[in-house]
Amino acid sequence: METIVSGVRSTGKLHLGNYYGAVSNFVKMQKEHNCFFFIADYHSLTTHPTPDNLHGNIKQVLVEYLAAGLDPEKATLYIQSDVPEIAELYLYMNMNAYVGELERSASFKDKIRANADNVNAGLLTYPVLMAADILIHHATKVPVGKDQEQHLEMARTFGNRFNHLYKTDYFKEPYAFNYAKELVKIPGLDGKGKMGKSEGENNAVYLADSPEIIRKKVMKAVTDAGPTQDNQEKPQEIQNLFDIMKVVSTPDTLAHFEEIYNKCEIRYGDFKKQLAEDIIIATQPIREKIEYISGDSKLLRQVAKHGAIKARESASKTIKEVREIIGFRTF
Ligand code: TYM
Repeated sequence: METIVSGVRSTGKLHLGNYYGAVSNFVKMQKEHNCFFFIADYHSLTTHPTPDNLHGNIKQVLVEYLAAGLDPEKATLYIQSDVPEIAELYLYMNMNAYVGELERSASFKDKIRANADNVNAGLLTYPVLMAADILIHHATKVPVGKDQEQHLEMARTFGNRFNHLYKTDYFKEPYAFNYAKELVKIPGLDGKGKMGKSEGENNAVYLADSPEIIRKKVMKAVTDAGPTQDNQEKPQEIQNLFDIMKVVSTPDTLAHFEEIYNKCEIRYGDFKKQLAEDIIIATQPIREKIEYISGDSKLLRQVAKHGAIKARESASKTIKEVREIIGFRTF
């Protein structure tokens, strides 16, 4: 049995990218492994620092974890800030991370573009905190989307540097994981990059969106004038919709639209209608549960409390051992 760790930031509702890139894998992995899935509220402070940002969003992610099928009896589900040992390990791991490599990370460069008026040190050391999240439980597999691949590489680097410095093999190497063999990047509906919470209201389809909203968003998705006999290479915005279809629709549906695209017979209206209906069907069981779980504060409190106890048990053992390796209190 392997140890698995992953998390989602508490910055809003979960979208299809979070689900297919990460959470759908969590649900499968909990049956086979020793899993720790958490709500990354420390991380969310880098961009969403106020109590107003935190309160609703932490609850939202927990509700959606449960609605997606995470089971607190199978996996340890917890809120990152309930486990202060993570912050302590983050401090130690900061000594194994070089400013230059943090500045060069692709996600830091993206983040400073998006948050130009608040380039805080938390953004710079975001990958160090992420390494602490993973190393605190000695995880070997980390189910995440493609955008997190570099962070996993950095987690291995920091862990290995610690091992080298203290002449130990204490930390294991964690690797990014997806059952689909390759890490996925679910594109948004705006015809550009990935689906994201901060890329505009209509770019992302949320698990909690109603069927009407899903239809509206998908029908508004950017398309082009249609394929022609001499140009059958799909432009980015069309490829994006096919990529979403690949995860929500049946292989037959996908093959059918590929075929009529190649014959230049595709009608984007029909294509988008089918895509919207398939998204509605794929998200329906989760959507239905979100509503009733969010009214059950007692359950949510119990899950968070139980998860915090289990996560702290594992984390405090690591911190005790790390303190010994580093050499605190030798008298
Ligand atoms: P966050 O909240 O940005 O994303 C949560 C998970 O969703 C994945 N994801 C996507 N996957 C495919 N296509 C997309 N369009 C898409 N958008 C988001 C992300 O890859 C991620 O797996 N840094 C993490 C949170 C974190 C973490 C950790 C993860 C903090 N500590 C330790 C694993 C292990 C993040 O990006 O969250």
